[in-house]
Amino acid sequence: MKVTVVGAGAVGASCAEYIAIKNFASEVVLLDIKEGYAEGKAMDLMQCASLNGFDTKITGVTNDYNKTANSNICVITSGIPRKPGMTREELIGINAGIVKTVATNLIEHSPNTILIVVSNPMDTMTYLVHKSTNLPKHRIIGMGGALDSARFKYRLAEALGAPISDVDGMVIGGHSDTGMVPLTSHATRNSVKVSEFLSEERLNQVKEDTKVGGATLTKLLGTSAWYAPGAAVSGLVQAIACDQKKMFPCSTFLEGEYGLNDICIGVPVILGKNGIEDIVNVPISEAEKEHMKASAEGVRKTNGLLEF
Ligand code: 2OP
Repeated sequence: MKVTVVGAGAVGASCAEYIAIKNFASEVVLLDIKEGYAEGKAMDLMQCASLNGFDTKITGVTNDYNKTANSNICVITSGIPRKPGMTREELIGINAGIVKTVATNLIEHSPNTILIVVSNPMDTMTYLVHKSTNLPKHRIIGMGGALDSARFKYRLAEALGAPISDVDGMVIGGHSDTGMVPLTSHATRNSVKVSEFLSEERLNQVKEDTKVGGATLTKLLGTSAWYAPGAAVSGLVQAIACDQKKMFPCSTFLEGEYGLNDICIGVPVILGKNGIEDIVNVPISEAEKEHMKASAEGVRKTNGLLEF
């Protein structure tokens, strides 16, 4: 199992680290355009191997796509991250060109690859890859919902005063401050609906804190987060590599599901060796349906800024 991660910045490097630590891939290639940078990160990570007990071989390369050849899974994290006060949508001008070039190069060297898009604005970047390459839709996956759901569970556990392992929940919709749709109607504590424990007001606070999860960290860190994004990507990569048939909310091209067409947006999917193996139609409340509709309008507005 060969995995390529493009972009050796904080998200790309922690993604490579988590993949290696989970020890399911034989090889991770880390690629960056900055001379020597990916090589340095790869060497530093490889020097963790004996300490953290993994055998995954991590190789760093400077923009040499030949070294990525025949990757089973490729992850695109390249582009600029947001700064405090910026929305993910504001990154489109620079990131669209980068993502399109990177995707084309990756597919040229690994025509059978499954692509995971992380660069922001993620739903629009996923749509761009869909429109500008000939990869079938089940092999183009946008990572946002897995991260947003992890942040939702963190906030739920905090509100409940419960361990995170007691909590389950999912966020669908666009990966943006207003677009996320935390499904409070389905969230549970040990199979009991969280609404049994939390007031509507507290649940609304959980929702709001979840939606600005990335922005809160960007304000604290001065740049966007990396540990949870890296861990979320590694979860998707593992589900595919190990054919787990695991359910994650991911951005995928919709053709009528959730009443939406010609858009990439977060919905629950099943991930296995073929990439997206199914889209799961979860019944959602009227309020969540309205929120999903508004979220899709937001994503379409950003998609409208793309130039093909
Ligand atoms: C985040 O939400 C990087 O978009 C990513 O932290």
